[in-house]
Amino acid sequence: MHSLDAFAQAKLDALEGRGLRRALTETLREDGIWVERNGRRLLSFSCNDYLNLTQHPAVKQAAIAAIERYGAGSGASRLITGNHPLYADLEARLARIKEAEAAVVFGSGYLANSGIIPVLIGRDGLVLLDELAHACIFAGAQLSRGKVMTFRHNDVTHARELLAQHRAAHDRALIVTDGVFSMDGDLAPLDDLLALAEEHDAWLMTDDAHGIGVVGGGRGSSFSGNRHIPVPLQMGTLSKAIGAYGGYLCASGPVIDLIRNRARTLIYSTGLPPSAVAAAIAALDLIEREPAYAALPVKKAKDFTRRLGLPEAQSPIVPVVIGEAEAAVSASQMLADAGFLAAAIRPPTVPERTARLRLTFTALHPDEEIERLADVVRSKILA
Ligand SMILES: Cc1ncc(COP(=O)(O)O)c(C=O)c1O
Repeated sequence: MHSLDAFAQAKLDALEGRGLRRALTETLREDGIWVERNGRRLLSFSCNDYLNLTQHPAVKQAAIAAIERYGAGSGASRLITGNHPLYADLEARLARIKEAEAAVVFGSGYLANSGIIPVLIGRDGLVLLDELAHACIFAGAQLSRGKVMTFRHNDVTHARELLAQHRAAHDRALIVTDGVFSMDGDLAPLDDLLALAEEHDAWLMTDDAHGIGVVGGGRGSSFSGNRHIPVPLQMGTLSKAIGAYGGYLCASGPVIDLIRNRARTLIYSTGLPPSAVAAAIAALDLIEREPAYAALPVKKAKDFTRRLGLPEAQSPIVPVVIGEAEAAVSASQMLADAGFLAAAIRPPTVPERTARLRLTFTALHPDEEIERLADVVRSKILA
């Protein structure tokens, strides 16, 4: 066998042996909640399409109209000729929703985090990350070449200790956290983290991938609990509740201008297709006009946790932690047998021995199906 293939096969065998080999399963999403997989129709509790906007007629129509007007792709980086006219509208809306001076849109959330952090932090800087922050925040932090340290999940005291010990030896410091944690669904203590950042002349950045559209009246984690926490760097994605594709940063005018000048993942990557930008604009329109609809996913998640006596949901994401990877896969299979899609999430996406079912609730999930799901989880998984 060629050494390249031998290398790949050995790696795959090792993953297989640990129950961690993954496969791409073809999935047909019909209407935002029902999917077809391996010839079976399942009710999905695994999509991040919290408001089912990927399938909304107005969102789809906006994307189709943009293709007709501007074409299927953008043709170049935004800094060359890919900056089609829809971008300005989208960025103005994002900045308004987040109460920021300005916004910049990237090709994806992963590209945003990989691009933003190295602009702000260099070799002499410090990046403090919540240990459960998303993988692409870690990727951006590593690309910065600064010192990367993690604090225990949502533990502001630990973050304070690390800053007290290490801040003085670095020229700049950035604290980065998910606003809504992608695998646990809980919220970061943003008011305390912001106060801590200010005490130590550090900058706070939130990744609100799972917050925009569904918490804080649809405006995200900086607005939850009817407060506005003025986080200076609010990053997020357009691919979850917004139902489209792309990433963004909302911040002050000078910061956004610097990012436009220096973020390599913006400069050296092609602009989004006009259809994705148009879809995001249409989705944000709907969210601004219908806050009661935007509140439904969290309400449905709360109904579920209440039925099972689990800690109250803070977002549309509810983890049911199983433990070992194989056991999580079996639990997922049990739910599939009952007609539900609930993907098993295994390490390294989550820490060792915390493999889980990550359930996501959407505005259109029927209440009686949520009740049936709760009954199956209670009798077959938590029993
Ligand atoms: C917290 C978080 N940040 C960033 C991303 C990446 O966003 P995108 O899918 O737009 O690349 C994701 C999702 O995949 C996420 O869950």
